[in-house]
Amino acid sequence: MNPYTYRNAELYCESVSLSHLVSQFGTPLYVYSTQSIVDSCRSMQQVMAGSPHRTYYAVKANANPALLHLIAREGLGADVGSKGELYLALRAGFPPERITFSGVGKQDDEIEYGCKHNIHAFNVESAQEIEVINTIASRVGTTAGILLRANLDIDAGGHAYVSTGKKQNKFGIPSADIPGLLRRASGLSHIHLLGIHSHIGSQITSTETFLQAARSLAHLVRNVREAGLTVQELDFGGGYGIDYHGFLSHPLLPQERPELPGFSAPALLASIIPVLASTGCRLAVQPGRSIIAQSGVLCVRVLYRKQTENKVFIIVDGGMNDLIRPSLYHAYHQIVPVTLRETPHEQVDVVGPVCESGDFFAQDRMLQTMERGDFLGVMCAGAYGFVLASNYNGRLKAAEVCVDGPAYSVVRERERFDDLQ
Ligand SMILES: Cc1ncc(COP(=O)(O)O)c(C=O)c1O
Repeated sequence: MNPYTYRNAELYCESVSLSHLVSQFGTPLYVYSTQSIVDSCRSMQQVMAGSPHRTYYAVKANANPALLHLIAREGLGADVGSKGELYLALRAGFPPERITFSGVGKQDDEIEYGCKHNIHAFNVESAQEIEVINTIASRVGTTAGILLRANLDIDAGGHAYVSTGKKQNKFGIPSADIPGLLRRASGLSHIHLLGIHSHIGSQITSTETFLQAARSLAHLVRNVREAGLTVQELDFGGGYGIDYHGFLSHPLLPQERPELPGFSAPALLASIIPVLASTGCRLAVQPGRSIIAQSGVLCVRVLYRKQTENKVFIIVDGGMNDLIRPSLYHAYHQIVPVTLRETPHEQVDVVGPVCESGDFFAQDRMLQTMERGDFLGVMCAGAYGFVLASNYNGRLKAAEVCVDGPAYSVVRERERFDDLQ
């Protein structure tokens, strides 16, 4: 069930009105729904329930400590991409045996930190990295679990910046090189070979694309086994998309339909599991966006309505430094009034105060007539939102609030000017 609903024309997150939250905490303000996060953790876990598996939440999607704690409590593991994320994951309560470390450029101190904490595995991106991990694990006096990340040369579609599975991308090891590398790695004293990993991109909504990757991976596992090597684990990565369109509907909102009616990340995953499970491997996935995106809304306040010859600009107090996805990827977020009114709709650009023409949340979007002091909600902003925030233009990072039924708490204080120094 969608935790965001209108009650008497007021937008609520669970049982708390956003008007109340913005009046108490100011804007820009990130708000998250506990129920949404718990539900998506559980539904991803349920899909995997038929096979031995592990679900690693991709910490890069949203690394707020309180939300990490919530996800750890749901029994998920964590996939981290840096020492900082590993630090946060450990502090949030993810046990080391439920942590993997991915990333194309792991530094020596990051590998050492992972080895010292005996994390479950490193997802390795190159031949040289295996040697480095072996040397560091030996120095630390441990054995490091590894999976090799295969580059399956698959075009996952979507924005070029989030495609990771093509051979011209920096990620992974060409499939053809995997058996040879596994053989070499099996001779290293401080490496424990666990299996194969892939992650082909993000915001993927095509079952066919995932099936292609799953089949290719299953084929690779067979090849590797025919070469006399063992593969116990298969980690299929993340990338399960969400529908950013039509998240909320109401008679007073402009008509906006879901782009993918009936689509859900768990259903997408369910259609691939049989192919992966046919390998007999222990399965793993690393969802980020599909766990957390729909839980979050970025609330902003209207500063000005500015009419020019060509456009109406609704200038708000949040900008690209708070949520960069529209500027970076031309990503779509539904934008809705926190308080609905029966006023005519008009076509507007919703823009921020930052000194860049690329600082926009929406272009040519229908919206009820907005006035100075009104509030807007930028929906589905829970993933790759606050984590990508910056102090560009000397702007302070927003506060974050987490709602749980009728209760709420600040899970990150708004920055102060002292934080800018
Ligand atoms: C290795 C790896 N795993 C998982 C993810 C999570 O992807 P998503 O948030 O699209 O599920 C990413 C994101 O880029 C990634 O690089």
